[in-house]
Parts: sequence; C-alpha cells; structure tokens
Amino acid sequence: QANQMWGGRFAEGPSAIMREINASIPFDKAMWRQDIAASKAHVSMLGKQGIVSADDMKLISGGLDQVAAEYEANGVPENWDLEDIHMVTEDRLTQLIGAAAGRLHTARSRNDQVATDFRLWVRDAMDQAEAGLLQLQMALVTRAGENADSIMPGFTHLQTAQPVTLGHHLMAYYEMFRRDRSRFADARARMNECPLGSAALAGTGFPLDRDSTADALGFDKPTDNSLDAVSDRDFALDYLQAAAQCSLHLSRLAEEMIIWASQPFGFVRMPDTLSTGSSIMPQKKNPDAAELVRGHAGRIVGCLTSLMVTMKGLPLAYSKDMQDDKPPVFEAASLLALSIAAMTGMVADATFRTDRMRQAAELGYATATDLADWLVRQADIPFREAHHITGAAVKLAESKGVALDQLSLAELKAIDARIDEHVYDALSVEASVAARCSHGGTAPSEVTKRVVEAKQVLGLN
Ligand code: ARG
Repeated sequence: QANQMWGGRFAEGPSAIMREINASIPFDKAMWRQDIAASKAHVSMLGKQGIVSADDMKLISGGLDQVAAEYEANGVPENWDLEDIHMVTEDRLTQLIGAAAGRLHTARSRNDQVATDFRLWVRDAMDQAEAGLLQLQMALVTRAGENADSIMPGFTHLQTAQPVTLGHHLMAYYEMFRRDRSRFADARARMNECPLGSAALAGTGFPLDRDSTADALGFDKPTDNSLDAVSDRDFALDYLQAAAQCSLHLSRLAEEMIIWASQPFGFVRMPDTLSTGSSIMPQKKNPDAAELVRGHAGRIVGCLTSLMVTMKGLPLAYSKDMQDDKPPVFEAASLLALSIAAMTGMVADATFRTDRMRQAAELGYATATDLADWLVRQADIPFREAHHITGAAVKLAESKGVALDQLSLAELKAIDARIDEHVYDALSVEASVAARCSHGGTAPSEVTKRVVEAKQVLGLN
C-alpha cells in the first residue's frame, strides 16, 4: 500500500528495510514539544495572514493542544510507517479534526519544520547546560571560600611543585566553567534565528509573516537565506563543541577527584552518595561517578565527531543524512547534564582532608623554589646558582627523610655559608603561598579577592 502522505506518484509501498532505515520517530519523538510549538506558531500566522480561515486555524490549533495532551499523558506512539515526529503528529491531528489538518502544512516543508524544531531543542539544551554549570560554579566558589588558606601541594607532571591553596585550585575550575558557560551563550546568540518559512529549500509564494513566527518562538529574527536555513546544522555543532570542551574540563576535575580519593593521596573523601562499594572487597569505596564523568567525556567527543563527519561534504540543500544529526546531540546532552550534576554533588559534598594536603605539601619539598628565591633576594646569588644550592639542600633533606625546614642551620650553612637563620621564614608553606600575591596568584589574600568577585558575579552574597 502506497504511503498516505506522498503515495500519489508511487505504485508500491516501501519495503520493510525502507521503513526501518527511514524511521526517525524512535528518537525524534524527543522533539514533540518543539514540533507542536512550531506548528502552533505557523498555523496562527497562516490564520492572521488569511492563508487559512480563522475557523480552520482555531480547529488546528485546538487539535494540536489535544495531541500534546495525549503525548504528555501516554507518550508519543512509534509508528514507523509515519517515519518521524512531524508525520506522526499530523496523522493524529487528522484523526482528531479531519481534513482541515491537511491545511497545517501549507507553505511549510518538513525541511524547515525539522530545522526549526531542532533549533528549539538545541537552544533549550544550551540553556540547561548553562544553568547546570551555574550550580557547579556555585559549589566551587563556596568550597573555595571555605578553603582560601588550606595549603596543599601544587603539581606539575603530577610531581609536587609549589604549595598552593585548595581554594586556588578549585577556583581554577571556576574559571574553566565560566568560559564554558560563555561558549554556550555565544552559540545560543548566534543560532537564534528562525528557519520556519524557508519551506523545502527555496522559500514560498504564500504571503507569510516570518517575523511573527520567529517572534512567537522566541527567535531574534527569521533566517535570511532559505537554502542555508534548511541545510546547515552548525548550530548543533556549536552546541556539541561547547559540550565537548566542557566535558574535557569535567573529566579533568573528575580525574583529580579520583586521584585525590586514592589511599596514597588521601586528599578527599568522596560523598557516600556518589560512590559505590565492591561485591568482594569490603573496604572498598569506589569513585564510580567520577570515573563515569571521565568516561562520558569520550562519548561526548564522539558525538561531536559523529555529526561533523555526517555534515562534511553534503551538497545543499537537505539530504536525508541530516536526519542522523539528532542522536549524537541527544546523547551528548543527556551525558553532559548527568556529568555536570554528578560533579556538582561531588564538589559540594566531598570532605577535603586539608590536614593530609598540608602534610603532603610540607613533605614534598614544595618550598624549594622559595629557598632559591630567598638566596637570590637575600644573598644576591644568581638564580641558576641558587637553584643548584637548593638542589643540594633537597638532596640532604631527602636522604635524612625530613622536610626542608627541619634541616638545621649548621646543615644549611655547610651547603652554602651565605645562608642565615632568616631562611626559615621562607621555608614554611604559609610563607610560600602568602608570597605569591601577584594578580591571580595562590596567596590566600588573592584567592579571597577572586572568591568575593565570583560570588558577586553569581549573585551569591
Ligand atoms: N525526519 C526528517 C529529519 O529528521 C525530517 C525531514 C525530512 N525531509 C525530507 N525531505 N525527507 O531530517
């Protein structure tokens, strides 16, 4: 039996394979709210323009409300013969209101319809990512404020480098997520133009009011080129790029939490609520949520790659390849939302073991640079030479198994006679962090300034 939407020029209906490969309803039903909203905007504009009668306009609009209520209550029926959310909805509308339903598709194609629905969906996803990131930033800033002067080792190469404060470390992620939020906001501003009225590819001869549909759907303006409007999915790629970048940041934070929660580090106790146990090893508390955030980043990057490859080399205008735009975007959006929420809970509820952090900073020769700097300042020794002298001090301390400030003055003087008792002022981890008060540095005074500014930006005080 030929297809009811376009069966006129067909002698035979589609094969089972054609039906299966063609059906997008299993996933594009996720856009039903956007599809109904866009159809309502379209038909009300058609009514205002006198393209459909006022009666038909009301009938169609009311029918769409009823379809929406059914979807809300029972879900969207998955009928492969009807292919996608657009045709499933139109079919149900026809059952409900009869032949007038056929007027809804006047001056419209599924090509501008899907481009509009998908933009609306992606726009929501951008807003959700931004809102989620705001919560995560709030958690980071709150914990950073509590720990503006909690000293921990800072690392390069994951080797102890210089003491930093935990507040400073957490605020580093605040900055990353601030840029991620602005990436979503940029992408949103760029994509907020309405394709509806572009029709199949060339526009339409019906006297549409595209400004009014754009306005009704919260777009800034209608798109200016009908071919572009139905052909590009760069807005979805912008979203995926922002999501992928954000997932990289999330995965680095997750990785640090995993390392910090390991027994040799012991810098953090993960909240029970975001950990799992082992079925065999009773002592285990595994950071599965963080590991999954780390893992999800790989999948989100895969979603970006997937859509980039789909779009590469497609001729204008619409090709059915583009139906494959949705699964990677939907997948990335749900993975990203989960990842942001998991990291927010982890940051908010983790127990930071600041005693262990401080001990690690003291024992890791983190103040060696401070000793070298002191030799430069107090004894006017060239930095390279100071570096060498300090290396000898570290070697001695390491061989004795003590911290730098536990070496006696006699021992230090034996390494270089120019060292005097004031050196101990520079060797403590407190002195080390307090000294790094350049703008953006780790000094508690600086970190506190940044936290206060951030709280103002976030409306936290
Ligand atoms: N389900 C299709 C998609 O998601 C809708 C557009 C179909 N247009 C067409 N000319 N076949 O891309």
